[in-house]
Amino acid sequence: MSQPDAKATPSVAGASAEASAFRDVIRHLASGVTIITSSSKSGEPVGMTATAVCSVSAMPPMLLVSLTTSSHTAQGVMETGAFAVHLLPHSGRKHAEQFASRNLHFQGVKYELTPDKQIPVLTDVLGWFLCQVEQSLPVADHVIFVGRVLQCELKDKSPDPLLYFDRSYRKLAPGAEPGAENLEPWGSQDVGLPGFGW
Ligand SMILES: Cc1cc2nc3c(=O)[nH]c(=O)nc-3n(C[C@H](O)[C@H](O)[C@H](O)COP(=O)(O)O)c2cc1C
Repeated sequence: MSQPDAKATPSVAGASAEASAFRDVIRHLASGVTIITSSSKSGEPVGMTATAVCSVSAMPPMLLVSLTTSSHTAQGVMETGAFAVHLLPHSGRKHAEQFASRNLHFQGVKYELTPDKQIPVLTDVLGWFLCQVEQSLPVADHVIFVGRVLQCELKDKSPDPLLYFDRSYRKLAPGAEPGAENLEPWGSQDVGLPGFGW
């Protein structure tokens, strides 16, 4: 089932797929790499590398993140009700590795704290979103936080993002494809969905 050339008969009946089969497929979903930050009850900065980040709507601007419940970052987000999402540039790989390691996440990392909830906003990033939690949904051993975007900034006007694919960090090939066309699948009005003016 997990081999790329093995044939599986699609069916919605029966038990869940094997975790290993799921991982073998989902790791081929190419993602941008982010760092999610928040703050603990005692005011300590917390943060983790994450690829489970998704836009939800533009009006109002909302996004979601899925964090392991036992992580320090998920605990901080639950306690403060706020978090920041940072899009990493390709040059930020060492920060991605640092924030996915066991400790010392913020060692040598430049950031400033929001005055109210003490959320660290990292300096050397491609762009960032500052979010207030609107909903949280426990799912298996993760919590999905839906955040309303209060502030955001694209810091790099010629972005070169850090990507993750098949357990490796990757770089976007510059100008490899012509521009996307037919970006209005949702009709003539901007209803705030990806695809229209996104
Ligand atoms: C490329 C990459 C992507 C990751 N994405 C996620 C994610 O989306 N959600 C998650 O809970 N953990 C994710 N992790 C794992 C966390 O970064 C890791 O468990 C981290 O050490 C948790 O830190 P904390 O306990 O201090 O919050 C990812 C790790 C890597 C290397």
